[in-house]
Amino acid sequence: MNKITDDFLTIALPKGRLENKIEEYLSRCGCSFSFAGRELIAFDNENKLKLLLVKNADLPVYVKHGIAGLGICGEDVITETGYEFYKIFEFPFGNTRMCLAAKRGDGFPKDLRTKVKIATKFPVFTERYFHSLGIPVEIIKLSGSIELAPILGLTHYIVDLVETGSTIKENNLEIIEELAKIKVYLISNPAYYKLNYKKVDDFVRRLQKGQFK
Ligand code: PRP
Repeated sequence: MNKITDDFLTIALPKGRLENKIEEYLSRCGCSFSFAGRELIAFDNENKLKLLLVKNADLPVYVKHGIAGLGICGEDVITETGYEFYKIFEFPFGNTRMCLAAKRGDGFPKDLRTKVKIATKFPVFTERYFHSLGIPVEIIKLSGSIELAPILGLTHYIVDLVETGSTIKENNLEIIEELAKIKVYLISNPAYYKLNYKKVDDFVRRLQKGQFK
């Protein structure tokens, strides 16, 4: 069957922090599913949705290439890929903040003639943000446990997502500035939307009403 005109709506879901919240929300909309054991593909109770469980940072790749027509992910992940998608529904959960943080009391340097070193999982966002302010930065890209960078002396500063604030607090760091609010969206591959807009719009209406009939 053609991936783009498949009868199912194909949706990529991110492993990790959003996984349970998405499952709960869709289940409240009457669309229940579960990934059996270590399986990475599931179908909903009405056989309308085909759900693919993918690594968060890879999700836009699957949607970009039409393997999944739709995906659910945070803006942070979209920004890093530079891909263009239709954002067709904003979910009422999973909101986080992209923040600049450092060891307690360090503050941001006042002399900005030399590059400020920043560790982050989000180099595209970070570079764009500071360059738009005319502040030169050197970015050190990490894949996780970003809060270790200031503690171990890799960099003074980090740019990272803050949700509850626990990780920052428990590692004796503090937020210097909130740089952006990050929301969670249903995104669509533009070609997939054009070919499947009726089905996709029905799905969005059901998400809006909190009902999936
Ligand atoms: C994210 C983020 C922070 C933490 C923030 O990491 O990078 O480290 O969550 O959450 P909090 O404000 O609720 O404490 P994640 O859990 O994705 O793990 P990672 O360190 O492997 O990136």
